[in-house]
Amino acid sequence: MREPQTFPAPDSGLPALAALAAAPVPVVAAPMAGGPSTPELVAAVIRAGGSGMLAGGMKTPDAVRAEVEQARALLGQAAQPSSAGRSGAGPSSPDMRPDDGADLRLGVNLFVPDAVNTRVPARDGRAAAARRREVEAFAERLRPVASRLGAAVPTAEEATPDPESEQAQFEQFLALAEEQAWPWVTFTFGLPGPEVFARLVDAGVAPGVTVTDEAEARAAVGNGARLLVVQGPDAGGHRGTLDPAAEPGTAPLEEVVREVRAACPSVPLIAAGGIAAADQARAALEAGADAVQAGTAFLRTPEAGTSAAHRAGLARASERNGLLHGSDPEPDSFPNESAPGWADTTVTRAFTGRWARGLTVPFMAEFADAPAAYPEVNVLTGALRKAAAAAMDLDAVHLWAGTGAQKARQVPAAEVVRSLAP
Ligand SMILES: Cc1cc2nc3c(=O)[nH]c(=O)nc-3n(C[C@H](O)[C@H](O)[C@H](O)COP(=O)(O)O)c2cc1C
Repeated sequence: MREPQTFPAPDSGLPALAALAAAPVPVVAAPMAGGPSTPELVAAVIRAGGSGMLAGGMKTPDAVRAEVEQARALLGQAAQPSSAGRSGAGPSSPDMRPDDGADLRLGVNLFVPDAVNTRVPARDGRAAAARRREVEAFAERLRPVASRLGAAVPTAEEATPDPESEQAQFEQFLALAEEQAWPWVTFTFGLPGPEVFARLVDAGVAPGVTVTDEAEARAAVGNGARLLVVQGPDAGGHRGTLDPAAEPGTAPLEEVVREVRAACPSVPLIAAGGIAAADQARAALEAGADAVQAGTAFLRTPEAGTSAAHRAGLARASERNGLLHGSDPEPDSFPNESAPGWADTTVTRAFTGRWARGLTVPFMAEFADAPAAYPEVNVLTGALRKAAAAAMDLDAVHLWAGTGAQKARQVPAAEVVRSLAP
């Protein structure tokens, strides 16, 4: 394993950074909102020597509070880690288990809503009205598909978030991070202001940001990020571009890691995207990362909360079995590695209004020109996706997965950690 050289010393006041650096295995369970990330998954990965992130996205603060408590209970510790927070005892405190700092390797990921994203200009009335019209037009196009599935599509007004509520909920999450003494947190989908980072650091919570290129990395560190998740183009799920209107980059992960490492030499880097085997993890560390983060590789583990539809899609991807529908003409070439089919992944805005990679399904082509309007599009398609998943009609389900989808295995999370260990 590569010696951790870049994580700051334990006296940074952020014990999680030292604990992450000292993790027996530099593999992090990626946060995966929408079900896959569970306290069980995160605890299993941490127990196997890795680190893990709970997914706060699309959850209420109360739900996240309960997940943090549950993960801590599974890790066999008290509700409050004794060593987090500046006022708490240090890692050598006698009331902390002397072994491994496992409690400090538990983190929480939060979405940054537009209302607190410094990269999104405030929308004036005209811009807001234009966006509303685009969203309504898209809602109209979705209605026939939804009605075939027996689902409803909300109106544009119903789908549009209230900035004040977004701000208030974000504030509740920050207060919860302080109250529960989360060891570390990562922000995704945007860049909060410097005051947010300063507040977390004061509370002993190490704040990080998901970035997708060097410019974003510099901006994040400039605002006070103390660690970065560098996400490459092969990643499953949403791209973490700070500006939701930006086209995500396509430079390979190792190249982005190298650039970010050169730009931010003393910031801990966690590389993510398409990592499905130990040699890929090793390459990311050699490019300058301190650890790797994997999502797709854990989706089929029993500890993950991945839905039945999602698991079925992944199973077919790994079997290279494109025959999802009885009505499909039966190709004589399956299984065939080069045949376009379910093993392919596509980056699409169709499901949520933000670029995300998932197993290729017909809905992506049909709505390829969906407006760049997250979270409205996510809300518009929510009920129809749910109905399609319940009916196991995968044509219209967002089956988020990275380019390593075919390699995701149905094995316990600890085995995935071992298989990724560089
Ligand atoms: C199902 C799924 C859900 C995801 N949800 C989140 C999320 O809530 N927050 C986040 O920062 N990243 C999310 N991601 C992206 C991951 O954090 C990570 O960047 C990605 O999984 C890495 O690529 P890989 O899937 O190829 O390993 C998600 C990815 C997947 C596959």
